[in-house]
Amino acid sequence: MSLRLALVGDGKMSRAIAALATSGGHRVVTVVTGGENPGGRALTVERLAGVDVALEFTRPECAADNLIRLAALGIPAVAGTTGWQARLEEVTQAVTAHGAALVHSANFSTGVQLFLRAATALAREFAGRPEFAAAVIETHHAAKRDAPSGTARALLAALRSGDAGRDAPVTSIRTGYVPGTHELRYDAPWETIQLVHTARGREAFAAGALRAAEWVVGRRGVFGFDEVLFGKAGEA
Ligand SMILES: NC(=O)c1ccc[n+]([C@@H]2O[C@H](COP(=O)([O-])OP(=O)(O)OC[C@H]3O[C@@H](n4cnc5c(N)ncnc54)[C@H](OP(=O)(O)O)[C@@H]3O)[C@@H](O)[C@H]2O)c1
Repeated sequence: MSLRLALVGDGKMSRAIAALATSGGHRVVTVVTGGENPGGRALTVERLAGVDVALEFTRPECAADNLIRLAALGIPAVAGTTGWQARLEEVTQAVTAHGAALVHSANFSTGVQLFLRAATALAREFAGRPEFAAAVIETHHAAKRDAPSGTARALLAALRSGDAGRDAPVTSIRTGYVPGTHELRYDAPWETIQLVHTARGREAFAAGALRAAEWVVGRRGVFGFDEVLFGKAGEA
């Protein structure tokens, strides 16, 4: 499948997606930058003519407006920006009202989605063992705007779906150039269990976002990336 893509945002993730898109047989037909797009005003019929899917990787404060504009234009969207989930219901209503489609995820890495499922299974095993204290530690580059990360929030939800009584403190570290590292730790008096996902680059996220773009064409509704990978609904 060869898609004509719009990239909304021209930062690190959009550049990683553009680099992979061509080798996957897709074409980036337009890139919408921050300066030209306050309130989503550059997302017009003319600008997005012939676009099959838009991939939105911008900033928490503008993502929802962009997604609502894309829904109104009937352009299927892949939303990777984190930190806008407080407006998910509003965005969902717009997508539904316009018969549009959206795949959203705080993390488009397949490894992280498997990690979340492993976290749920682990939480089931540790249920009822309070001597094992759970903790989540996430590390990202110094420019990341939101904390805790969207993936750390998804990890907490994954823990709770395996053990409703389990809570875990989250420690966020912002330093250097780290693309994203998430650790789930259970610590007891004489032993520690650690489950760690380390992204070595942005390619894992970019590849997943492109996979979601291929999947969403021809669909209607709001989906999580887990549904793309595993065929089930309800990603955190
Ligand atoms: N879901 C995932 O798998 C995943 C993976 C990595 C990152 N992320 C998330 O994706 C988002 C982007 O990450 P990044 O590393 O690419 O950030 P980045 O390098 O800071 O890039 C963000 C870009 O968005 C642009 N922008 C701001 N407002 C805009 C608007 N209204 N319309 C269009 N573009 C706008 C900015 O342009 P200006 O500089 O001109 O404002 C900037 O170029 C973040 O929320 C990050 O947490 C998600």
